[in-house]
Amino acid sequence: MVKVDLFSDTVTRPTASMRRFMCEADVGDEQQREDPSVNLLQDMVADLLGKESALFLPSGTMCNQVAFAVHCQAGDEILLQELAHPLLYEAGGAAALIGAVFRPLVSPDGLYTAEQVEESIRPAVHYMPRTRVVSLEQTSASIGGVCWPLERIQQVCAAAHASGLVAHMDGARLFNAVVATGTPARDFAAPLDSVWVDLSKGLGAPVGAVLAGSRDFVERAWVFKQRFGGAMRQAGIIAAAGVYALRHHVERLADDHQQARELAAALAELRGVSLDVDRVETNIVIFDVRGTGLSGEAFASCTLASHGVRFSVLGPYSVRAVTHLDIPPDGIQRAIEASRTAVAHRPG
Ligand SMILES: Cc1ncc(COP(=O)(O)O)c(C=O)c1O
Repeated sequence: MVKVDLFSDTVTRPTASMRRFMCEADVGDEQQREDPSVNLLQDMVADLLGKESALFLPSGTMCNQVAFAVHCQAGDEILLQELAHPLLYEAGGAAALIGAVFRPLVSPDGLYTAEQVEESIRPAVHYMPRTRVVSLEQTSASIGGVCWPLERIQQVCAAAHASGLVAHMDGARLFNAVVATGTPARDFAAPLDSVWVDLSKGLGAPVGAVLAGSRDFVERAWVFKQRFGGAMRQAGIIAAAGVYALRHHVERLADDHQQARELAAALAELRGVSLDVDRVETNIVIFDVRGTGLSGEAFASCTLASHGVRFSVLGPYSVRAVTHLDIPPDGIQRAIEASRTAVAHRPG
C-alpha cells in the first residue's frame, strides 16, 4: 500500500475545494469556443505568459505535438536536449504524426547552449533536413528539475531566431521555475514562439495543459487540436480545475521545493547514496544508490515494503523522488526513515 507517493508530481489528486469549484463550473461547447471556463483559463494563461492567445489541450504531450505540427513540415528537424520528454516519452509522436526528426543535443546539466544550437543548424542544402525548431524544457525534468536561467533562454532563442528557426518551450514545470527563481512567467516566455504549461503536475489539477503563442500560432494550433482529437465539449468541468490551480496552487510550489531540499540533504548523508544537493532547485530529487550495494529496484522495493514510500526507478542505480501537494505532513520524514531502512538492509 502506497502511503507516501514520490513517484511523480502527476500522482496528485484534486483537493476537496478544487472538486467543489469544478462542480460549479460554467460550461458550454468547447469545440464551438463557447465554454466560458475554458475561455477564462485560456485568457488567464495568455496573460500570465504575456502571449496574444492560448489554447486548452488535454495533455502536455498534445501541446508538444500540436506545437511541432504548427511549426514543422515533414522532414524538418527539431533540436532538443538528449533526455527531453518528446524524445523519450511521447511514443515517437513527432515522427509518427508530423514526420519531423529529432536532433538530440548532449548537455549533461540539462541546459544546452546557443553555441550548440548554432553548430547544429544544418546548411540549406537539398539533401539535408531543414533545422526548424529549438525545443527546451523548463524545468529540465530528466536532469532533476534544474531551471533554465532567463539569460540562457534568451541566448538560445536569439541564436535560433537569427537563423530563421522558431523556439518552443515545454513548460511542464514552468511555474516551478518561476517560484524557484523569482523570474516572472512572462519573462521566461517572452523569447519563445510557443510555450505551454501543465496543470496536472505540481499545480494539482487532474487533467489539462495550455499552449500559448501569437494569435496566428493559436489559430493554426486549433486545426491540430481538432485533427488530433483534442477538441472537447463541456470541457469547462476540467478547465475549472486549472483556473483553481492557477489561483491557489502556484505560490505553494515553494513548499514542494523546500521538501525536496530537505529530502535531498538527508539522502546525501546516507552511506553509499550519491547526490548533489546543490542541484536540487525545484521538486525533483535524483540520486544514485550504487554505493549502497543495492540496485535502484531493490532500494525502491524496500522503501515501499517497509514504509509504503514509493520512489521511481530511472536506471540500474538511479532513483527519483518528486515532491507535490499530495504528500502527507509527515511524508518526507517517512521517506527519510524508509531510505535509512533500505540502506541498512543492504546485502552483506
Ligand atoms: C517535461 C515534461 N514534458 C511533457 C510531459 C507530458 O505531459 P502530460 O503528462 O501532461 O502529457 C511531461 C510529463 O511528465 C514532462 O515531465
